[in-house]
Amino acid sequence: MDGADGINAPTATSSTAAPTAGPSVGGSPVGGWTHRASHGVPAARPTARLRGMPDLRAPRGTRDLLPSERAVLGHLERVTRDLAGRYGYREMETPLFEQVSVFERGIGEVTDVVEKELFRLAPRTDEGDIYALRPEATAGIVRAYLQHGLQTLPQPVKVSLLGPMFRHDRPQAGRYRQFWQWDIEAIGDPGPALDAEIVELGARFYRDAGLEDVEILLNSIGDPACRPAYIEALRAHFRPRADRLPPVERARLETNPLRLLDSKDPRMTELNASAPSIVDHLCAECATHFEAVRAHLDELGIAYRLDIRLVRGLDYYTRTTFEFYRRGESGQQQALGGGGRYDGLVQLLGGKPTPGIGFALGLDRVMLALDQAGTAPAEGGEPLAVVVGADPAATALRLRIATGLRADGLAARADLGVRKLGRQLEGAARDGAHFAVIVGDELASGDVQLRDLEAGTQRTVRLDDLARELRRAAASHHHGTPERG
Ligand code: HAM
Repeated sequence: MDGADGINAPTATSSTAAPTAGPSVGGSPVGGWTHRASHGVPAARPTARLRGMPDLRAPRGTRDLLPSERAVLGHLERVTRDLAGRYGYREMETPLFEQVSVFERGIGEVTDVVEKELFRLAPRTDEGDIYALRPEATAGIVRAYLQHGLQTLPQPVKVSLLGPMFRHDRPQAGRYRQFWQWDIEAIGDPGPALDAEIVELGARFYRDAGLEDVEILLNSIGDPACRPAYIEALRAHFRPRADRLPPVERARLETNPLRLLDSKDPRMTELNASAPSIVDHLCAECATHFEAVRAHLDELGIAYRLDIRLVRGLDYYTRTTFEFYRRGESGQQQALGGGGRYDGLVQLLGGKPTPGIGFALGLDRVMLALDQAGTAPAEGGEPLAVVVGADPAATALRLRIATGLRADGLAARADLGVRKLGRQLEGAARDGAHFAVIVGDELASGDVQLRDLEAGTQRTVRLDDLARELRRAAASHHHGTPERG
């Protein structure tokens, strides 16, 4: 692959002024290929063909994760699995697409996610159902909770899901049409202690992933008992100022006025600054709940910032809402993750009233942040040994020895190129191998040469003993080789 263009990298004639120039996630060349940042923002008109490049590209707003980038996602996956295990969340999966009404009813029809960003699948004539790709995991998990009768299990049911989500949004750095979330949900416990546990879990994820300086924003948006009065107070605030509202927000004033508070439009900043605050309108129960969430967080020593405009973009939230940001950044597009309580969602999707709370952390944004901070983990995966040979043509022999080592649980590779021994050794060193197994004339008497590429030493070992020798040498060098039996 030519290093000049990563897939989706902008070209000279690109008419999208999208910011794409940052470092690639993972940053470094991958296995000898170089690649530039894709950030999911393609050129509007590919000119690649003119330069002999393929004209097929990943869809707009999606990106390929090349091996060094996939390795960072793998690191994050391991952190999530470790944490989910320690905190008692069991992993589950839901389909990548659902009946569209799961999202319309669950997330709310007057939300950006449903109104504008749903990837609706073209209906097939032989099926009545209309499907959409999942834009988030919560609605699907609650649908599964009901479908499989999980309310009969001990509550709360605590689940973890990691996978791609799809939103048809305008792509830019950190905002993709396919992106990865780590989602956790605890269904069946009203809190408030659980709320604090979940916020703490989110904060711990960032620390364990290697990201310092993540700030927690916290709010309560009340419940159906107190929110209507607050919404009326909001309308009363904005109606006299309606002529100053941008058109989208003016329409929202009637349909979903809460969303005005987290509008991305800069014209809203001043109007929002003087808007009434939800915390002044909480009913006694919601206020008590919120106080208790805060007291639990204080008890855990978790610092957070109250943000009375944190209303979140999905309709199912009640009471506690929170988001995670890198310190100094704000605005929905920068959120590293977010979540909250959704005590009405199970009922909305056809179940008995059941409280729930969860979060989703955007892993693409964490990958970007790790890359920017220079703390993305190295790819790893170097072989312990590469089998090379004096006879360039004896590829089958080298392959057989490497196959034996792999069957023994070792990370070994054979040089399968028909090239001189010197070249094979150079290749082994370039791959980061610790040892080269050199196959030569001694094989007739059952021996091979074992060269320690790091120490520059070499000795003869019996082929029969090779796996054991390698394992012993690797252990004494603290090489990360899996031990077997
Ligand atoms: P959300 O705030 O819509 O919440 O998304 C959570 C996180 O996913 C965001 O903070 C962001 O990091 C990431 N994210 C969202 N959209 C994109 C995008 N287009 N490109 C890259 N990253 C993105 C939810 O999804 C809720 N289901 C969270 C939840 C779970 N609430 C309760 N349980």
